[in-house]
This record gives sequence, structure tokens and C-alpha cells, in this order.
Amino acid sequence: MPVEILSVQPEANAAFARAHDREALKSYYGFTVVWHEQRHDFSAVEDGTTLGVATIEIAASLATVKGVIVAPEARRRGIGRALLAQASDVANYYNCHKMTAEAPHGSAAQAFLEACGYHVEAVLPQHAFKLDMAVLRKFLL
Ligand SMILES: CC(C)(COP(=O)(O)OP(=O)(O)OC[C@H]1O[C@@H](n2cnc3c(N)ncnc32)[C@H](O)[C@@H]1OP(=O)(O)O)[C@@H](O)C(=O)NCCC(=O)NCCS
Repeated sequence: MPVEILSVQPEANAAFARAHDREALKSYYGFTVVWHEQRHDFSAVEDGTTLGVATIEIAASLATVKGVIVAPEARRRGIGRALLAQASDVANYYNCHKMTAEAPHGSAAQAFLEACGYHVEAVLPQHAFKLDMAVLRKFLL
């Protein structure tokens, strides 16, 4: 009988993933890996009002900036920079060697990340929405 490829709900694959995860990670990275993922959320609050938020995910000693949003009326007050600084401190605490983030190439978001100490390490051509996307990084250690 030919192998069928099915679309399934994530729960349907959980037992298989648990059974094979360890060997697959070792095969993928070339050494034994204990995989651990964390997510950290930050908010910038003034007088009880949230003016900005940020999220990072940590895995494999790498912290990935998943989002930074500052309310339009609160921009250019250093809030985004302060959110990323706090995120860096937390990533550092958890022994991350590097932070990484993506932004459309040439965008205001890229300028913001560069002002926060990030450097472009690659540009992915025709990536999200077919835009060229800059991959930026900041080393922590
Ligand atoms: C990008 C964003 C998070 C910046 O937040 P912010 O609080 O305004 O940023 P800061 O005030 O901390 O800016 C720090 C530095 O980044 C740079 N910067 C920030 N916004 C910029 C913009 N629109 N264009 C160019 N440079 C910018 C500047 O060098 C700025 O320093 P300065 O104001 O002294 O010149 C905010 O504009 C936003 O929420 N945008 C929409 C979502 C988004 O693009 N998120 C970025 C994901 S990486």
C-alpha cells in the first residue's frame, strides 16, 4: 500500500513526536540536545496605561524577537529601545549568546533595530509577502 500523507491536528502527532524527538534532534544538530523553549513578554506601562509590548522566544541559546509594538502616539520616546534592552537582559540571564530579529529590508523597523545595536547578517530575498527580509542579530556574550 502506498504511503498516504494526511493533514492532521497537532495533537495527532504528539505521541510520535515525543517518541522520536530526542533521536531526531541528535541527528539534526549532530550532538545530544535537551530542547527547552521559553517565551518572555514585556510591557511598557505609564500611569496604568500600556504603551508598548514585546515578546521574545528562547531556544537553543538563541533569543528571537517575535514582536515589538509601541502605540503610535508613544513612539520616539525610547520605549521600544527600553523594551528590547529588558529583553536582552532576560536573554542574557538565560545564557543566550545572541538575539535575532527580522524586519523588511530598508524599513523603519530595520532602522529601529540597528539603532538598538542589531546588525544585518543576511537578507532573505522575496520572503514574507514576497518582500526582501533582513535578518538582524546582536551578540550578547
Ligand atoms: C519600531 C517601533 C517598535 C519603535 O518603537 P519606538 O518606541 O518609537 O522606538 P524608540 O523611541 O525606542 O527608538 C529608538 C531609535 O530607533 C530608531 N527609530 C525608531 N523608529 C524609527 C523610525 N520610524 N524610522 C527610523 N528610525 C527609527 C531611532 O534611531 C530611534 O532613536 P531616536 O528617536 O533618538 O532617533 C515602533 O515604531 C512600532 O511599534 N512600529 C510598528 C511595529 C514594528 O515595526 N515593530 C518592529 C518589530 S522589530
